Amino acid sequence: MQSLPKHCINTLKGRISPIRLNSRKALTLMQSSTPLTFVHSQTTHPTALAAREAVLANPGFGKYYSDHMVAIDWDAEHNWHGARVTPYAPLTLDPASLVLHYAQAVFEGLKAYRHADGSIWTFRPEVNAQRFSHSAERLGLPELSHDLFLQSLKELVQLDRDWVPSEVESSLYLRPFMIANENSLSVRGADKVAYYVIGSPAGPYFSSGVTPVPIWVSTQRTRAARGGTGYAKCAGNYAGSLAPLKDARKNGCPQVLFLDSEHGQYLEELGGMNIFVVQKDGTLVTPALSDSILPGVTRASVIELARSEGRTVQERPISLTEVRDGLASKQITELFACGTAALIFPISALKSEEFSYGNDSTVAGPVTLALRQQLLDIQYGKTTDTRNWMLRLA
Ligand code: COI
Repeated sequence: MQSLPKHCINTLKGRISPIRLNSRKALTLMQSSTPLTFVHSQTTHPTALAAREAVLANPGFGKYYSDHMVAIDWDAEHNWHGARVTPYAPLTLDPASLVLHYAQAVFEGLKAYRHADGSIWTFRPEVNAQRFSHSAERLGLPELSHDLFLQSLKELVQLDRDWVPSEVESSLYLRPFMIANENSLSVRGADKVAYYVIGSPAGPYFSSGVTPVPIWVSTQRTRAARGGTGYAKCAGNYAGSLAPLKDARKNGCPQVLFLDSEHGQYLEELGGMNIFVVQKDGTLVTPALSDSILPGVTRASVIELARSEGRTVQERPISLTEVRDGLASKQITELFACGTAALIFPISALKSEEFSYGNDSTVAGPVTLALRQQLLDIQYGKTTDTRNWMLRLA
């Protein structure tokens, strides 16, 4: 392994320990939760069958929402309370709501998959629950127990189960989120907070499917810095990625890749996805987790699947120079990105104003495709879930 740059040694030794993704058992033991009863008020105007079927036939991503939503309130005095499932409806926020001013907001993304027998499952939700807690802590928000997080998903999906599409690669994307809704302009953690879950039927994230896409490298603007919020799934991280994303799109790239903030040389992650390099000998390399990289559930799962089939997986710094030289010498044979929404998609080239590494290949590499298929097979119940990764929601 190449020698580590100083900033990465610091990170690996851990100013803060990079988040590790634990097993379901460990998480359950960690949790102490107060059970809450969810009050249900069903919509009196459910979406008409024909309209819902039209949506499910071509859902796109993040365009339509199911009929209900979950809400739970928190305040400093009463802790979490008022758990309910209500008709999907706009929120009423006071203009002085803290979230609107200081972005005290965190979220998660996971999917509900329909299996051939009609049952509905989700993938490693305990890991999302754990990350949600870490994100909330970083943003000065209260912790939601993992049990309550999981229960909230079940409550929504059980009521809106007809919104889960049946085609492979389609799902009901679940978006749990927590916002500070105390009215105040003081810069401080809110004493009043709300948690919600909404569901959005989703087809493939990229219309290009598994055709490799070029990625724009943001050489001037970074996503996250040492000690910052990069490892948390908080709204502000995504806001900061949007101007670079505009540059990417202007240059024909659907996504942007960020580099480390100290040297501007090492790959970190895309706006909302992790990145992997595949070497000629089948080794996978991905940037090591740090406080500036989001610990992706798909990232962790790819690593586990690859290792269990005997591949070497290195979690270490990857410089742009290594990618440039590796692609040129064919030492690097594939690049791919991964995340919950997009699963795994192949990257054809890394581009910026100054360089273009890679090619215009329209064919995804075999390692990328095989890992993608393994994940799909687990998520859609087409293979035995030997790792107990799937949790039944309905
Ligand atoms: C996800 O994969 O769930 C993401 O976080 C990407 C994006 C839709 C925010």
